[in-house]
Amino acid sequence: MSAPSSSPPEPTAFRGLMTRWATGVAVVTARAGGVDAGLTVNALLSVALAPPSLLISLTREADTTPIIQRSGTFAVNFLAADQRGISERFAQTIPPADKFLGLPLHRGTTGAALLDGTLGAAECRVAAWTPQYDHVLIVGEVVRQEIGRDAAPLVFFRSGYAEASGPDGLRLAAARK
Ligand SMILES: Cc1cc2nc3c(=O)[nH]c(=O)nc-3n(C[C@H](O)[C@H](O)[C@H](O)COP(=O)(O)O)c2cc1C
Repeated sequence: MSAPSSSPPEPTAFRGLMTRWATGVAVVTARAGGVDAGLTVNALLSVALAPPSLLISLTREADTTPIIQRSGTFAVNFLAADQRGISERFAQTIPPADKFLGLPLHRGTTGAALLDGTLGAAECRVAAWTPQYDHVLIVGEVVRQEIGRDAAPLVFFRSGYAEASGPDGLRLAAARK
């Protein structure tokens, strides 16, 4: 472990620390004015069980952020290990419509895209919108949920995707770029 410092870390050093926090991976989608948008996220946590609610942290620069603001709703799609390509696609800076090309999906009550083959999905109504630094903290109240496949999760750790293996699909091997 490196020596503790009394001063705040530089942003890149802090990013290095946070790479040591393993997370799942989700795609957040939204639809407004007939336009679909979506992005890959791992800044996601549940807030409360009653009401069922979760929080995402989105950069203000993401194309998806204003679409969520306009629609007042969004969906969170929890990715399975075999959906790494979807994660990579939704993390690209490409026209939002291109992200959905040929992707099997369905719609629930909010109109946001629900990707097929995920571990599950939550459709949310925006309950709180809090600008913080260059991000927006968005609390969503879950208006509808789907439980999906019983499959291994896609995991992100140390700037790469970790492999989930083993009979339960939950044993993590070293990250492979
Ligand atoms: C594993 C992973 C996790 C990410 N998590 C977030 C996140 O929590 N919040 C965020 O704003 N961007 C996150 N990103 C970056 C966005 O996916 C990326 O900026 C995307 O291009 C934004 O798309 P958009 O501009 O079409 O909305 C993440 C990227 C990856 C690969």
